[in-house]
Amino acid sequence: MAIEKVGVVGCGLMGSGIAQVCAQAGFATVVREVAPELVEKGLKGIEKNLGRLVEKGNLTEAQKSEIRGRLTGTTAIEDLMDCDVIVEAIIEQLPAKRELFAKLDGLCPASSIFASNTSSLTITEIATATKRPDRFVGLHFFNPVPVMKLVEVVRTIATNPEVYEEMVGFGARLGKTPVRAHDSTGFIVNRLLVPYLLDAIRALEEGVGSIEDVDNSMKLGCGHPMGPLTLLDFVGLDTTFYIANIMFEEFRERRFAPPPLLKRMVLAGWNGRKAGRGFYDYSDPAKPKAMKF
Ligand code: 3HC
Repeated sequence: MAIEKVGVVGCGLMGSGIAQVCAQAGFATVVREVAPELVEKGLKGIEKNLGRLVEKGNLTEAQKSEIRGRLTGTTAIEDLMDCDVIVEAIIEQLPAKRELFAKLDGLCPASSIFASNTSSLTITEIATATKRPDRFVGLHFFNPVPVMKLVEVVRTIATNPEVYEEMVGFGARLGKTPVRAHDSTGFIVNRLLVPYLLDAIRALEEGVGSIEDVDNSMKLGCGHPMGPLTLLDFVGLDTTFYIANIMFEEFRERRFAPPPLLKRMVLAGWNGRKAGRGFYDYSDPAKPKAMKF
């Protein structure tokens, strides 16, 4: 099957990034949000990113216009009905995802392939809301999507092997390195990343080192682009807390259990960079200051 048109559901941080890479890779791309102002906000973010690429000389103005021309925003789910592949990146709530895919299943031809960008929900449980679990995969991208080179391509026990290989190829056509993963909670990256991030919080709780020293240790000692506490602020403490709870529920192992400090920071609304405060204070976003607690 030739993939020509891609639908992306959700135009937030992840959805807009996915839509951008699809359009950059040459696919006609329709991105859907629930309200016109959200469509506009997402498309503006993409314009800004493309503009930066032009400024840096990585794209010409003509290429930018072509990419922008391949991208359509909509609030109507019906506008996705002729898409060959649909990638969902909406809120991480199982009922919302199941409801969305059940609707898409009724609208789209039997040939369309569905994918979810979920980071922690079970792909099988989302896929069974449709009559096509054989044409359903996980496509897990990383933030910031236009920059991070990886996509996890996730198969369930019901995924058709040919469909799966087609989606591995699709990931490569998006300019990403696809890795193959089973539908195991957290897949590969979060299986390894989440315990590491939670351990960094535990080290802080136990007074092993300060916020800056924990971060600098991993940045300078291991060559990571961000220390774990900076990365937690970047990913969102609420998001990490949510994923950790799902993983703990699944595996019942302490390494996935959210530490008390994480829970309290989420309860206080200190969700990281997007909230202006997490392990760092972002009052001056160019110069984050480590919090004292
Ligand atoms: N959108 C598009 N491009 C962006 C961007 C964004 N949001 N943020 C940064 N960039 C680009 C910059 O334009 C720059 O491009 P250039 O090299 O062509 O000039 C490049 O990325 C580097 O950016 P900066 O120089 O501003 O800053 P850094 O060198 O510090 O890089 C970073 C920023 C790429 C975010 C880097 O710090 C990094 O890789 N951090 C780790 C990110 C990470 O681990 N992400 C995965 C999170 S886990 C996840 O998403 C899974 C989920 O399930 C939890």
